[in-house]
Amino acid sequence: MPVFDASVHNPRRVKAARTAQDDFARAVRAGLSRSPRELPSTYLYDAVGSALFEVITLLPEYGLSRADERLLRLWAQAMVQQLPRSLLVAELGSGSGRKTRWLLEALAARERLSYFPIDVSATALLKCRQELSELGAVSLVGLEASYLDGLQEVAARRRPGQSLLVLFLGSTIGNFSTPQAEHFLREIRRRQEPGDMLLIGTDLEKDVQTMLLAYADPTGVTAAFNLNLLARINRELGGDFKLSGFEHVVRYDAVGRRIEMHLRSRHRQTVSIPAANLVCQFREGETIWTETCHKFRIGELAGMAERTGYVPLARWVDQEWPFAESLWVAAPNADPNADP
Ligand code: AVJ
Repeated sequence: MPVFDASVHNPRRVKAARTAQDDFARAVRAGLSRSPRELPSTYLYDAVGSALFEVITLLPEYGLSRADERLLRLWAQAMVQQLPRSLLVAELGSGSGRKTRWLLEALAARERLSYFPIDVSATALLKCRQELSELGAVSLVGLEASYLDGLQEVAARRRPGQSLLVLFLGSTIGNFSTPQAEHFLREIRRRQEPGDMLLIGTDLEKDVQTMLLAYADPTGVTAAFNLNLLARINRELGGDFKLSGFEHVVRYDAVGRRIEMHLRSRHRQTVSIPAANLVCQFREGETIWTETCHKFRIGELAGMAERTGYVPLARWVDQEWPFAESLWVAAPNADPNADP
């Protein structure tokens, strides 16, 4: 596929792209060889998937992003009052930057600041830069990296007296299983100093019909978002998935309190994926698990903070679409000599 992009002539970039492709091939091979089959949800977000997700945020059935943005718009001032001065701001998964703008504007009214959006998608970083270009008091440095590598890089740039605010919005934390989520939060905390802050967005449990409809919208945008993962395998790894042979399935696991997205084979079929060195036989009705979206209870958030090295400081909840923004402060480092 010809790519008309100046970055292609940068040998470092070409190498990075090749490694990313290898990672994708490996992940596809591992996930589709498992039983039941699964694919990591991070791969939903190529250029097409990211554009489809932007459409999802506009769907009347998907209230999550609007609730997130509403809270940031209405409470930006109150949030800023809780934050220390002389801030570095790092955002994990910047997306378009639309909702972050409210907070950055409020912060920038107080002092100049550095903002580091971190995203594996160069397209997302570009959109973010465009969206936030007129914020004069904000110096934006996009980092094309995994969340934790990017955060490491930001932490390395901090100067004495500066505090680090990490933004993890949009309930992306819900894509992890509960143990993985806490592990990930601890990894964030390890890259911060005591007194640093984390602002984390979590979608809350609501009635089952509302949750299901948010992921099974009648227009079929979420179905397209899900099926695009197979299209991406075809495009990037030479796969021969027939998309009409698979169906978008959404279920709610009331015990795990999570929405699950799957792709279900409509009939028996064989698919080959040359770049992953894989041939798959699908039975009729067999599924590929593509995403988990955990729905939180307000009461579980404080425990999560405490188990991962934070102290809850403040919280804002949307009434229209239950969703919480929580501000946590990094607790003093654990004494390595203390009793466990
Ligand atoms: C961006 C991960 C929060 O879990 O609701 C939307 C992704 N998947 N519709 C979510 C998503 C299907 C979304 N997050």
